[in-house]
Amino acid sequence: MRKKIVAGNWKMNLDYQSGLSLFSEIINMAKDEVIGNQELVVCSPFIHLSSLGQLSKNVANVNIGAQNIHQAESGAYTGEISAGQVKSVGASHVILGHSERRAYFGETDALLAAKVDIALKHGLTPIFCIGETKEERESGDFFEIIKTQLTAGLFHLSNEDFAAVVLAYEPVWAIGTGLTASPEQAQEVHQFIRQVVAEKYGQEAADNTSILYGGSCNPGNAKDLFAQADIDGGLIGGASLKSRDFIDIAKVFN
Ligand code: G3P
Repeated sequence: MRKKIVAGNWKMNLDYQSGLSLFSEIINMAKDEVIGNQELVVCSPFIHLSSLGQLSKNVANVNIGAQNIHQAESGAYTGEISAGQVKSVGASHVILGHSERRAYFGETDALLAAKVDIALKHGLTPIFCIGETKEERESGDFFEIIKTQLTAGLFHLSNEDFAAVVLAYEPVWAIGTGLTASPEQAQEVHQFIRQVVAEKYGQEAADNTSILYGGSCNPGNAKDLFAQADIDGGLIGGASLKSRDFIDIAKVFN
């Protein structure tokens, strides 16, 4: 059966020491309190990754990830970080397709498809984000928009490669707004995503794909969201910056 995952996206927050302190708290709490098979993934800024990799080396079920990578193998790309580099410091995951990167950094479906390829080549699990804006939801076209994001970013993959991908549905209107999708709204889209995956890769592959919900997820609403049949965990922004909240969200799967 598919994995239950609670992933944190620290975004561009926390200086080096604050990040280490937060991660140490998360690890300690996870050891004592997270007793199910759920996987925790902390996606930090690049500056923390190497140290977090050391801290989490022998901690079962706590992994770390990057929030971006460059699509090239290596070379003259001043200021960029490659898949191989983040892998080399212990990262196992990378967030790709986040709406903030699509909106503020002009990341297109084609670019994201290339980033997915290089991530997989280096053994990184992409946490691939899809989701509609407020206008797109109100227009009623959001199912088509989500299907296009999936198709263009991922459906060039073989069955084997697709099996290594985690999906995250993040309605843009719910990110950092305190406005969460209702469990029913989220489930409706997650079910749709699973159906689109089944049409392309078969029902078994779809049933094995973890689909996370992201958007103002917190300890108060996680239980109802994660109780939905097609919601396999969360991609947590603001609440992942507080160890207590992040662990309480993860404990929903205890
Ligand atoms: O990637 C996580 C995210 O965009 C959700 O952020 O702060 O609404 O939980 P937040």
